[in-house]
Amino acid sequence: MARIAYVNGRYLPLPAAAIAVEDRGLQFADSVYEVVAIADGRLIDEEPHLDRLDRSLAEIRLDAPLARPALRRVMREVVRRNRIAGGMLYLQITRGRARRDPVFPAQARPTVIMTARRLKPQAPQALAAGIAVQCVPDPRWRRRDIKTVALLPNVLVRNSARAEGFADAWLVDDDGLVTEGTFSNAWIVTRAGEIVTRPRSHDILWGITRRTMLLLAAELGLTLIERPFTVAEAKAAAEAFITGATSYVTPVTRIDDGVLGTGTIGPVTRRLAERYSAYMAART
Ligand SMILES: Cc1ncc(COP(=O)(O)O)c(C=O)c1O
Repeated sequence: MARIAYVNGRYLPLPAAAIAVEDRGLQFADSVYEVVAIADGRLIDEEPHLDRLDRSLAEIRLDAPLARPALRRVMREVVRRNRIAGGMLYLQITRGRARRDPVFPAQARPTVIMTARRLKPQAPQALAAGIAVQCVPDPRWRRRDIKTVALLPNVLVRNSARAEGFADAWLVDDDGLVTEGTFSNAWIVTRAGEIVTRPRSHDILWGITRRTMLLLAAELGLTLIERPFTVAEAKAAAEAFITGATSYVTPVTRIDDGVLGTGTIGPVTRRLAERYSAYMAART
């Protein structure tokens, strides 16, 4: 079945869907986006994702081109037309098409794009084994809280990590503190059993999975601390993991050359992964 994309009010087969050459999203990355997980055909954490989208739009001073009910309708329609049970919805809003000029155009109409695709469920073996991450200096700008499509630094770092045999990288600030993964938030579980993740600031993206995970971990009565942590601390941790709309909860079992714990998923990470998977299955 051909995939269907939404572009500015139209539902089109993906190969026919296009935007203008002078779209500011293409020329300046003047554009924000969201990725929402789909489980059993439902959009997980739809409202927090739309809240974050509104915040990103406000931060780049772009008025929302569609009111929330209309946006929700289109999102559901894209999921329906693509017949996705499990996967992801991608939504992007750019400042639209205008003659190339850094100054905001007086009259451009924002471009709204949506696509959806299936994703294989997380394989139990992959979950058990976890991933290896490489720590590298964070090369990004200082407003990582805005979910913009200016993802070239993330892409370059992810590819260098892959070339060196790692699944992903953890980005590290000038003080030796981990900011986040290239497309995920970073967490450790200390040997004392505390779950630690960096607090919200301009330094990281305020992950929606991170937000949900904090709520679920608190419900489970686990000890949570939002504070930055160093690479050395991460390497000495009992467990580590990442969260993201498409990575869910993925254990990190190796950081650079150091293996964590037994080199397989730890008990706290397993509990959180199971709780998150139950949360996705139960959402209405
Ligand atoms: C840099 C970065 N941090 C964190 C995340 C996780 O955010 P979310 O849980 O909303 O997917 C992402 C997701 O793409 C990301 O790109």
